[in-house]
Amino acid sequence: PTVYFVDADGNQFEATVDAGTNVMEAAVENFIDGIIGECGGVMSCATCHCYIPPEWQSKIPAPSEQEEDMIDMVLEPQDNSRLSCQIEITDELDGLVVHMPKTQF
Ligand code: FES
Repeated sequence: PTVYFVDADGNQFEATVDAGTNVMEAAVENFIDGIIGECGGVMSCATCHCYIPPEWQSKIPAPSEQEEDMIDMVLEPQDNSRLSCQIEITDELDGLVVHMPKTQF
């Protein structure tokens, strides 16, 4: 599947990854700057914060309580905030668009 990462300035980066990869890993493996993933995906850093456009939200499982608690700690939380390490890429998510915050700190 292909994932499109869009930074805060509107620049778009395309990444083709294997199904089963999570969105944070997809960004890190493809050297996409806006997602850091410091904790390696164990939900303790929130440096993988991203925003999911409305049209994709229903295709992604809802966040766990732990994920929501972590999202409360990010710099600019929005209704569509997610931790990208918690989103597994499946074939159905081909074409997924992920918006990145201005900063992860
Ligand atoms: Fe640390 Fe997602 S990579 S919370």
